[in-house]
Amino acid sequence: MTLKIYDTKEQVAEEFSEYFRDLAASDQTIHVALSGGSTPKIIFDYLAENFGSEINWSKIKFYWGDERCVAPTDSESNYKMTVDHLLSKIEVPFFNIFRVLGENDPEEEAQRYSKVLSDELPIVNGIPQFDLVMLGMGDDGHTVSIFPDSISLWDAKENCVVATHPDSGQKRVTITGKVVNNSKAVAFLVTGAGKAEKVQEIVMLEGDFANYPASLVKPISENLTWFLDRDAAKNLDFS
Ligand code: 6PG
Repeated sequence: MTLKIYDTKEQVAEEFSEYFRDLAASDQTIHVALSGGSTPKIIFDYLAENFGSEINWSKIKFYWGDERCVAPTDSESNYKMTVDHLLSKIEVPFFNIFRVLGENDPEEEAQRYSKVLSDELPIVNGIPQFDLVMLGMGDDGHTVSIFPDSISLWDAKENCVVATHPDSGQKRVTITGKVVNNSKAVAFLVTGAGKAEKVQEIVMLEGDFANYPASLVKPISENLTWFLDRDAAKNLDFS
């Protein structure tokens, strides 16, 4: 586990963008699972505005680690957020974009997307393998759309399952733990004081407990990087 701590969200965006640029420098096609929510907005804006012309986007295939079961035009849609902050600003072939069809029946879409991952990604250990999975983390320690009250979904045998937001009841399609932990690299992008308690518990007590989905992120590759701002990292004690 690598911790990268920066003073501000903007610096997190800058550092992650350089990390992503370096990953994308490969001649190979890379498969990336994007995170949702609000944190990626500043990161995608920075990435598009500062590396939009430098990165060969035709070598990058975009997927989503989770998506809300809403129309792609809905303000809740992670796809819409990504279009607004990244995809609308870069030259990426439409056929490199594999969105979760949030407008579909959730169970049918989870099955369809599971097959998309199996068909499009290299299969390693019998599981689709991303080159990078970007993750956010909720204040409650959820990640992708697996929440503490349904943490058993993390161990589902499927590539994707349907989850339910504990407060809103919103249905979501999410990748599962086996796909996350089979990725060549995982990057947690976590900012804000609201995340500090869980960051402390997960980072400082690594392996000593596992009752938040985010604490179950342990890629087989051991290539896990936390990009944190000072607020999210404020409880970490390195003395
Ligand atoms: C989603 C995300 C979710 C998100 C966390 C953090 O669809 O909401 O995938 O896992 O990453 O909830 O969200 P914020 O970045 O908005 O704090």
